[in-house]
Amino acid sequence: MFELTPSAVAASDRLRRFADEVRRDLSASPRQLQSKYLYDSLGSCLFEAICRLPWYKITRAETALLDREADAIVAAVGDPLTIIELGCGSGAKLVRLAEALQRAERSARVHLIDISTEALALSERTLGALEHVSVVGHRATYETGLRQAAAARRGGGPLLVLLLGSNIGNFDPPAAAGFLDQIRAALRPGDALLVGADLVKPEAELLVAYDDPLGVTAAFDKNLLARIDRELGGDFDLDRWDHRAVWNAEASRIEMHLVARGAQRVRIALAGLAIDFEDGETIWTESSYKYDLGQIARMGAAAGFEAEDQWVEPGARFSLTRFRAS
Ligand code: TRP
Repeated sequence: MFELTPSAVAASDRLRRFADEVRRDLSASPRQLQSKYLYDSLGSCLFEAICRLPWYKITRAETALLDREADAIVAAVGDPLTIIELGCGSGAKLVRLAEALQRAERSARVHLIDISTEALALSERTLGALEHVSVVGHRATYETGLRQAAAARRGGGPLLVLLLGSNIGNFDPPAAAGFLDQIRAALRPGDALLVGADLVKPEAELLVAYDDPLGVTAAFDKNLLARIDRELGGDFDLDRWDHRAVWNAEASRIEMHLVARGAQRVRIALAGLAIDFEDGETIWTESSYKYDLGQIARMGAAAGFEAEDQWVEPGARFSLTRFRAS
């Protein structure tokens, strides 16, 4: 008899869910795709490249804040410490906190949660090389990973949850509130949450951060269509799609859209779809909400957190907030 290995079963479940969600979201109005699907192996490489672009300042600003404040951040949580990073990417930022722990001659268990196999492998390797840190990786969505990791709290020690890179900004405000509630529900009073959030700034700076002159962000966005072609048997013609970033001032968000250049029919075999796109029709792939410091503190407070510290990197207007579960 022919049996699939557990990882092959998981992979085919993931593919089926991808097909189901693509069918639902491309048939919705407005047409959309979920941003978690941007991060396949090529997409993760392209995102790492975005983080190095001179026009995308978030990663460098946040890393500078972490470099400056890491000692204070880890000093605010006791031992035995468990750290959970939601969407760890390469793991480079967590290394900053691990170095602060080492300076204080402390250790920690670290749970890395990422949707991307490649990002997870890279961060596991990077953090796993540190002697005073033990690493558990979860290839999972935030929600599933958080549930798994929070259940693995060490002894009676505290949890420190990291939600960095303006990932909170990729939720619309009601979903962000719901997600903060979920995080709070996984925590106990005294546990800590560190949130990196981008602040409102002049439109021109925002647009160039999400539509850069080298076209890396456009490639990152369009790779989602290439992924549908590769994995779901789609026939998107990438030459007939453009990336567009729009600042929606009313909603305080950057929106990323893919725009059809010319009317076209697209078929996606595994999703059972045939769609006729009109010239100029769009697919909404991501939003990145921009906040002010007061809003961030209030969002946390509404979920049962107290903002104990807020730091701002003035050049990029990027913020880090250290919350305590109350
Ligand atoms: N969390 C990142 C942000 O909001 C994600 C991101 C950066 C992104 N650049 C992007 C998502 C371009 C889609 C397209 O800044």
